[in-house]
Amino acid sequence: MRHLLDTTDLSLEEIDDMIKLAMDIISDGKKYAHVCDGKKLATLFFEPSTRTRLSFEAAMMELGGNVLGFSEAASSSAAKGESVEDTVRMVSCYADIIAMRHPLEGAPKVSSFKSGVPIINAGDGGHAHPTQTLTDLLTIYREKGRFDNLTVGLCGDLKFGRTVHSLIKAMSRYENVSFVLIAPKELQVPDYIITDVLEPSGAKYVQVEDMESEMPNLDILYMTRIQRERFFSEEEYLKHKDAFILDMPKLENAKQSLTIMHPLPRVNEISTDVDDDPRAKYFIQALNGKYIRMALIISLLKWGGALE
Ligand code: CP
Repeated sequence: MRHLLDTTDLSLEEIDDMIKLAMDIISDGKKYAHVCDGKKLATLFFEPSTRTRLSFEAAMMELGGNVLGFSEAASSSAAKGESVEDTVRMVSCYADIIAMRHPLEGAPKVSSFKSGVPIINAGDGGHAHPTQTLTDLLTIYREKGRFDNLTVGLCGDLKFGRTVHSLIKAMSRYENVSFVLIAPKELQVPDYIITDVLEPSGAKYVQVEDMESEMPNLDILYMTRIQRERFFSEEEYLKHKDAFILDMPKLENAKQSLTIMHPLPRVNEISTDVDDDPRAKYFIQALNGKYIRMALIISLLKWGGALE
């Protein structure tokens, strides 16, 4: 049985296959309408979500399967003190596959030891969000047709932004990808991303504090929200909350071929007037999340022998 706990659980070949499967689903969704007939997905969300939970549920429904689960810890027996391992052990008796979001880093991994079915990490604290990364990769593939020879700007809260950590891990495995890490010093990527991911990969990277200087070089600009819920004090959050706001004047020197991405939700870091620019792809990115999650559900169930 396979789980998806971090992006690196998948080989590059498996990612390629999943992207191809998602592209086929996009071109002929009807072909997949009964692939998961009789199967159940449980969504165990101990933290708020709109896109990830609902796109997982829509994905399973479009595959002919059913969904069950909860959207907050307060409505589960976690509120009575049940451990996450016990919860997963129970739910794996009721469902064929589980997508879990949890505020504690490593909770999906710990749960996977007790689970009888595949566990998908749908975001664990500030650590990782591998299905967002698959969403991002499908978006990059659809926009650029490749993953290599790209300059990727990541902007905002790079310290707590788990989508950024997962995306760097994924993109640094491809050839000639350069990273521009745009953040205030206090919100730069954790040290392990430099020492354990970027340095060993040999990928070029720069760390800067302003958005405009590197804008003309970027093929992709990945904006992120300042993660209010992960700050230790409101004062610290308020200091950084308006650190970067992408608006049309800031795009003046950007490439016409730039792809602007954001995992969403947006607070104020992208001005709404950018939404109408053809380079803004963040809402299409959210739609891609449903297609790649359909491909992921099929793949994990097949690898586990639950689907032919
Ligand atoms: N991108 C993302 O994880 O969004 P949600 O928090 O709404 O699931």
